[in-house]
Amino acid sequence: MAVEDSFNASAPIDFNSIKNLTTAEAKAVDRLILDELSSDVVLINQMGHYIIGSGGKRLRPMLLLLAAKALGETRHDHLVLAAVIEFIHTATLLHDDVVDESDLRRGKDSANAVWGNAASVLVGDYLYSSAFEMMVRTNNMRVMEILSKTTTAIAEGEVLQLLNCNNPETTEQKYLEVIARKTAILFSAATRLAAVLSDADAQTEEALATYGQELGVAFQLIDDALDYKANAEELGKNLGDDLAEGKPTLPLIHAIQHGTPEQAATVTNAIKQGSREAFAEVYEIVKATNAIEYTEKCADDAAQKAIDALACLPDSEYKQALEQLARFSVQRDH
Ligand code: IPE
Ligand code: IPE
Ligand code: MG
Ligand code: MG
Repeated sequence: MAVEDSFNASAPIDFNSIKNLTTAEAKAVDRLILDELSSDVVLINQMGHYIIGSGGKRLRPMLLLLAAKALGETRHDHLVLAAVIEFIHTATLLHDDVVDESDLRRGKDSANAVWGNAASVLVGDYLYSSAFEMMVRTNNMRVMEILSKTTTAIAEGEVLQLLNCNNPETTEQKYLEVIARKTAILFSAATRLAAVLSDADAQTEEALATYGQELGVAFQLIDDALDYKANAEELGKNLGDDLAEGKPTLPLIHAIQHGTPEQAATVTNAIKQGSREAFAEVYEIVKATNAIEYTEKCADDAAQKAIDALACLPDSEYKQALEQLARFSVQRDH
């Protein structure tokens, strides 16, 4: 195999050069987002600009735009839906930080830490509703069907997760059901919508939906590993938020299954208790049982499935960028 044909899975990904492939479109998306944030209710303006202005990777709109470019021309509605997807993502973050009692987001005090839970929930609702208002302007029934199913599934995922909280008997399968809905489905909607707006055939649409879904699974698996092992400053979020909520994420499920009886008991109690107190001890057990490596391996498998799904797309720098973003989802440290 020629060197240029071989794909080096562990080579570091240059996120910025991938981002540069959609600079112009991403700027237009940001303009749409800012236009949509203007409300005569001051608090909505303030909070909307605060959370959107504090950055974020903008990964979901980037995936939608790259998928569109991998299929041909980018249309105005691609830009609109990229903004819609980022709005929905941001709404889920506002709600999520209330539910998770998180006080750091994107390297700043979270909106709930600054304005309180009630304001966060209500402005999250505003962002959801604005997203739907924008979506309706596309006047495309397929688009509306996909996005409304997506937001329903996200809410189901969040509620399922709530039911699993403080339950150390949560299985790997139950955990995977949660992350498929709460996180992966929005990625899947982003890449599927790119195909729908490009009038792609059914096979291409399914392939891109599978790509987004698998990448999303990899992305959340790594998020759950980073909650134990990241550098909080780089991550822009506090470590240990999951343990504080008693969330049985894959690192803990694996640690219970593979630890000694004493180690399993420590992790089980920490999940039941749902506090930060045992974080250092639990982290040692997570390390000792190779639970981070296992989680990363699962993420790597999902990323590979995402890449495999792209096989039917014609070769292009955009397709390569999509492949690299699947790898990035696993390699990332923020
Ligand atoms: C955070 O998503 C929520 C998860 C699904 C893990 P991102 O890591 O994409 O958040 P931002 O937008 O870059 O801040
Ligand atoms: C992702 O889960 C939440 C959503 C899909 C909204 P997390 O609760 O792990 O996300 P972070 O870590 O707070 O960003
Ligand atoms: Mg959270
Ligand atoms: Mg997390």
